[in-house]
Parts: sequence; structure tokens; C-alpha cells
Amino acid sequence: MKIFIDSDNIEEIKKYLSWGVCDGVTTNPTTFFRSGVSGAEGIKNRVLEISKLIGSQPLSVEVTSEIPEEIIKQAKEYSGWANNIVIKIPVTDSKGNSLLGVVKKLVQEGVVVNVTLIMNFNQAILAAKSISSGLEKLNDKKAHFISIFAGRITEEQGVERAFQVIKEARLWLDFHKFNNVEIIIASIRNPENIEYFSKTGGHVMTIPPEAISKSLLAARTKEGVAKFMEDAKKSI
Ligand code: G3P
Repeated sequence: MKIFIDSDNIEEIKKYLSWGVCDGVTTNPTTFFRSGVSGAEGIKNRVLEISKLIGSQPLSVEVTSEIPEEIIKQAKEYSGWANNIVIKIPVTDSKGNSLLGVVKKLVQEGVVVNVTLIMNFNQAILAAKSISSGLEKLNDKKAHFISIFAGRITEEQGVERAFQVIKEARLWLDFHKFNNVEIIIASIRNPENIEYFSKTGGHVMTIPPEAISKSLLAARTKEGVAKFMEDAKKSI
């Protein structure tokens, strides 16, 4: 399972790259808002900075319009910023209208997409179909993504339901040989989520920095190191 860092914080991304636990980065309008990155130029500069840091690893950038023509315009602009940009497009707009027509069109034109805000199995397989249909006539079949929001499904329908949606979507993709679509397990909130949803078979998990650093903390590990250090001093 690959790990993406769900953040646009440069220092955090640098840290997890140095640990060897960053295979890519995902951002969204909320991450930029939280870190105080604003304005078209500000966002572009931050995206370029992250892109340079992570090299060929994928970097998801979300569109900020719900209007198909504007999404297409933004997607083309953003994907031209660097080779590793992946365009995040919600599966529907805020009224529930499908954005899969936009997804297919962009994939056909060579844009790598991450269909986001997926909350159920049917949305997942429809998004995968749309991507796959867009890829039909292309020679270069890069991996595209669908982001299933484990945390938000859990809040509505419980953790077992969230697990089942991701696990069954993975089985379906494999059974029907959707080899160019990868599941991103998104909306991870804590270390318990990391452990639990790692067993779904999702190809990627995007994790907020705090949940990664908390995962390393264990009182008995710290206590064990302290004891070994103490005994080492006595035996030297
Ligand atoms: O990548 C976006 C997603 O992980 C955000 O999740 O539900 O914590 O806002 P959430």
C-alpha cells in the first residue's frame, strides 16, 4: 500500500519524504485554507514547491468550480504546471449532478484524474468505468485514482460499512481487470483508522501528518529505549 501525505505543509512533506513513507501528496481547498495559502498565485506557487520536492510522485490538486466548462479549463491549466499533477474532481457537483462526463473527457485528453468525495460502492465503480472509458483509445495508460472517504462514511454509516465499501470496490476492480484505476483510502483521521483501513486492499492511503506521527508513539517503546540506555551506561 502506498502512502500519500494529505497536506500541503512543506515541512511535513519533507519530513515524511526523509522517513521514506511518502509516495505522493494530496491537497484540497480545505488544506490550503487551513495552512493560510490563498489566491491563485499563492496556490500555484505552493503546488510548484511541493511538485519539485516530490519529483515524479503524484500530487493531487482539486478543481475549485462545479461548472463543467470551468472544471475542464482549470484542469488543463493545473495539469500543465508540472508532470506529476493529478486533477481531483468530485464525482458529482453539490446538487448531485454527475461530473463523470468531465472526468471521461479529461482522461481522453491525457489529464490524470483523482475522482474524489466517493461515499459508496456504486459511485466507486461508476467513476472507475468513466476513467476506463476515457482511457480506451490512449496508448499511455497511466494509473488514475478514485478517492473513497473512509472517515466520512464511518461518521454516517459506521466503520464496518466504510471497510466493506473499500474492500468490495477493490475486489470488483481486480475481478473486472480495471488495472489503471487505483483506490485512495481518504478521510483518515487517526492511527486506528490507518491500521483498520490498511486491511481493505486499497492501493493507496492518504494520511494527514498528525496521524502518521502519532502512529509511532508507544509508551512501552519509549520506556524500552530509556531502560536500554540506562543499562548501556552501566555496562560500559
Ligand atoms: O484527501 C481529502 C480527504 O482525505 C479529506 O478528508 O474528511 O478529513 O476532510 P476529511
